[in-house]
Amino acid sequence: MARLVVVSNRVSAPKSGARAGGLEVAVMAALKRNPGIWFGWSGRLSNKILATRTIESDAVSYVLTDLPKAAYDEFYYGFANRVLWPILHYRLDLAEFSRQDLSGYTQINEHFADELSELLKPDDVVWVHDYHFLLLAKALRERGHRNRIGFFLHTPFPPVEIITGLPHHGRIISALCHYDLCGFQTETDAANFARYVESECRLPGDRRKGYDTGERIVRIGDFPVGVETDNFNKLARRAIKSSFVGGVLSSLSGRAMIIGVDRLDYSKGIENRLAAFERFLDTYPEWRDNVTYLQITPKSRSEIPEYMQMERNVSSTVGRVNGQYGEASWTPIRYVNRAHTRTALAGLYRAARAALVTPLRDGMNLVAKEYVAAQDADDPGVLILSRFAGAAVECKPALLVNPYDTEAVAAAIHRALTMSIEERRARHRALYSIIAKNDINEWPARFLSALTGAPTLGSPAGPIPAAASSEVVALPERRAAYRAS
Ligand code: G6P
Repeated sequence: MARLVVVSNRVSAPKSGARAGGLEVAVMAALKRNPGIWFGWSGRLSNKILATRTIESDAVSYVLTDLPKAAYDEFYYGFANRVLWPILHYRLDLAEFSRQDLSGYTQINEHFADELSELLKPDDVVWVHDYHFLLLAKALRERGHRNRIGFFLHTPFPPVEIITGLPHHGRIISALCHYDLCGFQTETDAANFARYVESECRLPGDRRKGYDTGERIVRIGDFPVGVETDNFNKLARRAIKSSFVGGVLSSLSGRAMIIGVDRLDYSKGIENRLAAFERFLDTYPEWRDNVTYLQITPKSRSEIPEYMQMERNVSSTVGRVNGQYGEASWTPIRYVNRAHTRTALAGLYRAARAALVTPLRDGMNLVAKEYVAAQDADDPGVLILSRFAGAAVECKPALLVNPYDTEAVAAAIHRALTMSIEERRARHRALYSIIAKNDINEWPARFLSALTGAPTLGSPAGPIPAAASSEVVALPERRAAYRAS
């Protein structure tokens, strides 16, 4: 394959100090198979000199760009994470739209397109990741690039009834039609987007063959992200013997451990989960002093009011439950905000009798898959998984729960802790074989072969037909206003 150019907001470049969250391992796997460039934000903000630097490591060039501070705040804290993130997670009620933030979002997409234009070769294959760059293919096409450009959304994509609540969706969402391939985590997400293209962009075509924009056929597919199943299992086998995990285990004094690992984000359902654990202690008193729930929750996007509020709520619930049920020698919930290394997490997963992975809505959730990968097949723990996580599509042998149903989650915790060894082994065997088949290598291979094999009309770049939405009509003047602001 030609050179692969990956684009994402976060880049975990060697020694950059930046982090890429759940996206990191997946993108690295893609670049291991197809050496090329990983292009993204350097982690630096500046008002004056916007520099770009390159780090070469293991056949990958990490090209990192500084970004203008004011626009980045509007782009990242504003439009990406206060508008797109909640809406993509079905939370229209939390979206705080402002034209100023959309202006910053547009500006950063344009800046990325300018920087990319400098380094793109005509036959490069470009793979753009996540909701930060919905406008990037359009900006590249406007600069004359006719490369294969694919897009993968790591979050859910909601039904048309929700996504059309996004102000200016006719400009922002329909810009995805400038990509050759739009990939999603699940069939439901892909079908939701296809319905958007049909009803709002009114493009001819269908979900299977793609949609004809006049310049290209935009294709839509589901490509569920996997994990490094066998490697993660090996890592967990080693990590459980580490002094760190040994220390945690000895501090439990023989009690069972339940684990939860999530960024501090309202989509993760941490508050509902705590309520379910509280109900569990209330309903099954025999487990008091016999189980400890470890919730590892690195803070995230802390400048956003909804995240600050959530942080307060979670802390106060943890305090209340520990105050009510705890004893001098036992703390029911250990709540930790510090991020842990992959190795530490692998060991903790293997040591935990059950994992609570109960997001209210999640694109995939790789914690669920990594928990399964980490288990000892002879004595595996039990995965309690929200039916609203993308992972639930594949991980049917888990204990699937509705995270809004406090009693049902409490009952699932009890069931997990009392499950027979035979049932645990059978469920784990089934889960492991699913995640071993669709592992981390499968994902880039499938996406890139769909992208490079996709049909093209090969005509020059140009605007796609405007979306049918009336919101698009006034766009040229509005856009001028954004630029001026
Ligand atoms: C999710 C998104 C990623 C993002 C990560 C961490 O997994 O899909 O694009 O990088 O969260 O969030 P942050 O805002 O810290 O980059």
